[in-house]
Amino acid sequence: MALRSAYSALGGPSLPLKARTTPLAFQLQSRSRNVSSRALSSTPKASQAHTAPTDPPLQSLTKEQKQFLESALRVNHAGELAATLIYTSQTPPIVKAHPHLRPLMKHMYDQEAGHFKTFNHLLAKHRIRPTAMYPVWHAAASFLGWSTGVMGREAAMACTEAVETEIGEHYNNQVRELLKWDEEAKARGETLGEDLEALMTDIRRIRDEELEHLDHAVEEDAKMAKPYEVLNGVIRAGCRGAIWVSERV
Ligand SMILES: [Fe+2]
Ligand SMILES: [Fe+2]
Repeated sequence: MALRSAYSALGGPSLPLKARTTPLAFQLQSRSRNVSSRALSSTPKASQAHTAPTDPPLQSLTKEQKQFLESALRVNHAGELAATLIYTSQTPPIVKAHPHLRPLMKHMYDQEAGHFKTFNHLLAKHRIRPTAMYPVWHAAASFLGWSTGVMGREAAMACTEAVETEIGEHYNNQVRELLKWDEEAKARGETLGEDLEALMTDIRRIRDEELEHLDHAVEEDAKMAKPYEVLNGVIRAGCRGAIWVSERV
């Protein structure tokens, strides 16, 4: 499957922007504790009780690693909400003109809604605030979906192709980073721990679903959009810009 990448847009706070009153709650518990609560970093206290027969999880995340996860999850959350808004706005005009696309549009929307739910849960769990740009991304994503939807099937699909190209790369970068951490942990006789391993599994699955959307878009004549090059370039640049901002704000 080809490479493509990331969404842009963003936003969708299920958490109030002021929710992050405490630092990231990435905490790893040892294997003897409740596994469902294992998190992404550690506390010395939690690691003491460990009786695991295999390598222990990471003892702690560095400040840089925590910042990486915080930024990545914030962007993922924002981008997935944006994706649901794009499809919500595109679907009425597209389905009206091309009723046979209703199942495909619903399928892609449903997957985006699932992705958003995943990151909504992770932000709440780890006490990461949503992007402060949420209202802006909300409006931008809705406008992008509406405008490409009224332009027609090819333009709507070109939008999906562009967005998924950027988001695919964005998720691939996260997988690469987590794999690097995994190698470093193994070199120290540790493991990533359940939370980080589960996160990597989720990101890989979601990335694959985004790339499936990209393939659907190309099959539905994304490249026949007019003007394709302009749409592709502008939307991809917008995605990259939104990702850059949301990583920081
Ligand atoms: Fe998604
Ligand atoms: Fe998608």
